Amino acid sequence: MKRTVLSLLCLTISLLSVQAFDADRQLQYCAEQTQRALALLRPYQFNQEPRNILTTDTGKGWNCRPAVAEEWCSGFWPGILWMDYAYLKQGGSGKKAEAARVREAAEGYTDVLGFLAERPVFDHDLGFLVINSFLKGYEQTGDERYKRIALACADTLANLYNPKVGTLLSWPRHVTDFGGHNTIMDNMINLELLLWASENGGSRLLRDIAINHAVTTMRHHFRPDGTCYHVAIYDTLTGEFLRGKTHQGLADYSTWSRGQSWAVYGYTMMYRYTRDPLFLAFAQRVTDAYLKRLHETSDDWVPRWDMDDMRAQAPKDASTAAIVASALLDLSGFVGGFKGDYYRDAAVQMLTDLSSECYQSRERNVAFLMHSVGNHPAGSEVDASIIYADYYYIEALLKLKR
Ligand code: GLY
Repeated sequence: MKRTVLSLLCLTISLLSVQAFDADRQLQYCAEQTQRALALLRPYQFNQEPRNILTTDTGKGWNCRPAVAEEWCSGFWPGILWMDYAYLKQGGSGKKAEAARVREAAEGYTDVLGFLAERPVFDHDLGFLVINSFLKGYEQTGDERYKRIALACADTLANLYNPKVGTLLSWPRHVTDFGGHNTIMDNMINLELLLWASENGGSRLLRDIAINHAVTTMRHHFRPDGTCYHVAIYDTLTGEFLRGKTHQGLADYSTWSRGQSWAVYGYTMMYRYTRDPLFLAFAQRVTDAYLKRLHETSDDWVPRWDMDDMRAQAPKDASTAAIVASALLDLSGFVGGFKGDYYRDAAVQMLTDLSSECYQSRERNVAFLMHSVGNHPAGSEVDASIIYADYYYIEALLKLKR
């Protein structure tokens, strides 16, 4: 009886906070920031994709980087435009003209990445490049050309697979310095391209590769407490797991926050495609580890860039909160019941913090969010507006609105 009352109380609190958060209002904010960004980018140079806005920048607009295979972030901006388009086109006649202009920009920034279908794979980030641009565009337009490009890129990505290890080689350029076949946690996200392709006319083998990768990663890439290493190193020839290391985190033993968020998002996505309960259970395991460490180390719902950097001045990483919020909105539906409500409530709390004065850029620059960390050990994009934070933020808002 006591338990039921408590559960009802939790459910009421959860419903109240979900109701209090206005996803529409935040999507409108994103649409306004996108208009400001597009105004500064005109006349468009589609082969330059927005990447970051640093605290040292004097201007309010995006710093862009060339749309090449070596730039892992090139697909996020077209993805943001496709999602903004999805929002605007539901907005009735008042938004029709704006939606058409955003779509035109989305097409330009997507099409420029078409060369990826004809190149050998550079690294695992091919998935990020294609999922965010062509798959988001295909969702909105049904354009068969986008589908063909995505299918070709899925085949190219699969060339990184080492059957002896059971995972994709994430960074071919780092085999020598890491001392073997390397797989990074971020790579989980890119499995979506393989799973999508196998459901859309591609080979069934692509699905097998994605599943093997996820299962092998589950076996070796995690510590007993459910947190992950950034990089797992395997013997290229025997497939034996050698060691876990960091690349963008504080230390080999530490929990690099965004790495853990890729695990949360990645295993939730694996369940979305396969409906295998193994992945559902594992998604909850890595999520629970994330939330536990978040509550132990952060004063709000946005984590420190690394959960083991306990310095008072350790920067926060808004991108991680956005990635986790987006994943939890899927996971909550899959899990259902009180635990599902708990995940949904956590996602709303994350979005509430991200939508506050503390994290939204507002007049300061044209991004949606501030306070993300790219590569702290390299001193790169520390406490910056970064394009992927905005991408997962608007993705989460759209999921919540639906
Ligand atoms: N994939 C690189 C990162 O998460 O920073």
